[in-house]
Amino acid sequence: MKFEFTQVSLSKGVNPIVFCLEGAVPGELKSDSQARELFSSKEFTGKTGELAGIGFGEQKLILAGLGKEKELSFEKLVKAFGNAVKANKGKKITGVFLPKIGLGEQAVGEALAQGALLATYSFQKYKSDSKPLALEKIIVCSNSSSLKKGVETGAKIGEFVNYCRDLDNEPGNIATPAFMAQQAQKLSGGGLKVIVFDEKQLAKMNAGGILGVGMGSENPPRLVVLEWNGGKTGEKPLALVGKGITFDSGGISIKPSGKMDEMKFDKSGACAVLAAMKACKELGIRKNVVGVCAFAENLPSGSSYKPGDVVKTMSGKTIEVLNTDAEGRVVLSDAVEYAKSLGANKIIDLATLTGACVVALGSEYTGLFSNNEPFKKDFLQAAAKSGEKMWELPLDAEYAERVKGTVWDVQNISKVDGEAGASTGAEFIHFFAGDTPWIHLDIAGTAWTKRPAFYDVGATGAGVRALIEFLKK
Ligand code: BES
Ligand code: MN
Ligand code: ZN
Repeated sequence: MKFEFTQVSLSKGVNPIVFCLEGAVPGELKSDSQARELFSSKEFTGKTGELAGIGFGEQKLILAGLGKEKELSFEKLVKAFGNAVKANKGKKITGVFLPKIGLGEQAVGEALAQGALLATYSFQKYKSDSKPLALEKIIVCSNSSSLKKGVETGAKIGEFVNYCRDLDNEPGNIATPAFMAQQAQKLSGGGLKVIVFDEKQLAKMNAGGILGVGMGSENPPRLVVLEWNGGKTGEKPLALVGKGITFDSGGISIKPSGKMDEMKFDKSGACAVLAAMKACKELGIRKNVVGVCAFAENLPSGSSYKPGDVVKTMSGKTIEVLNTDAEGRVVLSDAVEYAKSLGANKIIDLATLTGACVVALGSEYTGLFSNNEPFKKDFLQAAAKSGEKMWELPLDAEYAERVKGTVWDVQNISKVDGEAGASTGAEFIHFFAGDTPWIHLDIAGTAWTKRPAFYDVGATGAGVRALIEFLKK
């Protein structure tokens, strides 16, 4: 998608969308009787998400509501812009007219570009009659340099999110752990180093967690490590750790077949990490960052790990596997340990970890857990600025107790069934993160959607925008 900037009058705008604040006829339309009447009759008031079409000379013009200015947030703007651009269906070119608002022109530009890229994305790769995206160009009717700067930033971020979605939408028969490692390798160069460990190397590293989970599949696991040194030499890196289960059948503790197809998205965390590492390189992030992605396929077979098995992880700590479907935390135990071995002094892990998080927060909010107040505060701030909604859920020594092992160090499910599953899952990972400042993002509810709305069906790229905003700080 291209963006162009020209300050033209509304009558010269191509397929124009005019964005309006609630209750105020926009300046460009003050002399248009039709528009004035729409507002005075309250047929169109400019509420968020409201759309109306009116004839304007030869063409049709779309009015799109943004709501009350004081209630506007960056996140709401992204949605309103995206939905309106998407509603202007079938058009190759769309002109947009924007009001001046308090958030500032740069934020408006960023929201416009992000919204347009995210809302018009659709995964068409495997459709034999796939059509190229209709919308090719957005002409922004302004020549403000801060608006332009915002659009450039927003467009880049939109591309990183859509890169994540492209990877995540790949089905399990294509996106094996080896395939994912190949995709990661394509990112190498320009200062980004990519290292792939295969199953033989993982055995030498004593990565019993990743190997245990991957054992039942013909497609052996991979640990992918990406290193970006944009900071000072010797500066300890921030680690981004991703759960990359390319398909989660549950293993021997097999899942019900309904909706099992959705478990191809169980690699969403790792895809977000790959996208953030791509952003490190392309945005020239001035920090040292390492990405650690644990890819494995969780299947039942004669060679699978089984309930009651014990696995010894890279850290030397042992896990009693009581349910093979709680596999995310098992692969993350090794990935987190590897991040620590690289000297990371901050860790953020992203994982489609628990159904319990989906029950608690649904598809709007990502669940956030942390063992460090200042780190958490900084990250939540960045997330809010990025347009992603996240909500803190508790860690607690009582929850940690529920995953403590009896004969082994930890067990992979809680001793108390059906309670606080997102927190006990987080405490399991906490056991491996230890005192290293750490944030766990449970993106089980936010990483994909089955109901097309702002996002089309499939992967959403959850976590990518928040990570990039945090990296840029
Ligand atoms: N990948 C799933 C979690 C999940 C389920 C994400 C549904 C999104 C939608 C994870 O591996 C899993 O199966 N978790 C179990 C853990 C339980 C056995 C302790 C769960 O949440 O049921
Ligand atoms: Mn599972
Ligand atoms: Zn899983």
